[in-house]
Amino acid sequence: ELQSVLLFGGSYLLGAVPFGLIISRMAGVDVRLEGSRNIGATNVGRVVGKKLGALTLLCDGLKGFLPMLAAARLLPASEQKEIVVCLCGALAVIGHMFSIYLGFKGGKGVATSLGVFLFLSPGATGISLAVFIAAVGLTGFVSVGSLLAAGLIPLWLWLLGQSSTVILTATVVALLIWVKHHENIARLLQGQEKSWKTGKKKG
Ligand code: G3P
Repeated sequence: ELQSVLLFGGSYLLGAVPFGLIISRMAGVDVRLEGSRNIGATNVGRVVGKKLGALTLLCDGLKGFLPMLAAARLLPASEQKEIVVCLCGALAVIGHMFSIYLGFKGGKGVATSLGVFLFLSPGATGISLAVFIAAVGLTGFVSVGSLLAAGLIPLWLWLLGQSSTVILTATVVALLIWVKHHENIARLLQGQEKSWKTGKKKG
C-alpha cells in the first residue's frame, strides 16, 4: 500500500545521506580521500577528530532509528506491520551502503545498523556494544569490533526470544556489514589494518 511504499522510499533516501562526508567537508576534508577512505564515523574520527566522528555516529545512527520509529508510529496495527518496520530499517542501512547521492557507493553501515539494532532490541544491542568495546580495546581495530558485534547480534536476539522477522532482518544487515568490510578483512589477514587512532597501520 502507498504508505508503506513512501516509508520505504523515505527510509532509503534518508539512509543514503552521507553525513560523514558532509561533516568532514565542513571541516575542509574529503574523507573519501584520507585514512581508510570510508565515509563512516570511524574514519571521520580518524581524519578530522573524535568530536566530528561522534557527530557522524549520532547522525548516521539516527538515520537507522528514525525511519523505524516513523513507520511504527504511522502505520496502523496489522500482520505485516513488523515486517514493514524492519524493512524500513534495512533500507536505511542499504541507503547508507549504496547511496544514490554517491553513485551507489557508500559506507559500511555500522552506525546506521546501531540505530536499527537499538530500535529492534536495546538489550541485544547492549550485549553487542560490550563485545564491540572489548574487541576494539583488545585489538585497536574498530573493524574487528564491528564484525564481531554485528556477527553475533542475531544470536543475542534469538537468545532474548525475538521474533523470526527481527532475527532475519538483523542477519541480513550483519551479512551486508561483513560484505562491506571485505577490504578490512583482507587488511586484517595481511596485518595491514588501520587503527582507529591514525590513518596509518597499527604499530
Ligand atoms: O565503521 C566502519 C568500521 O568498522 C571500520 O572503519 O574506517 O577503519 O575502515 P574503517
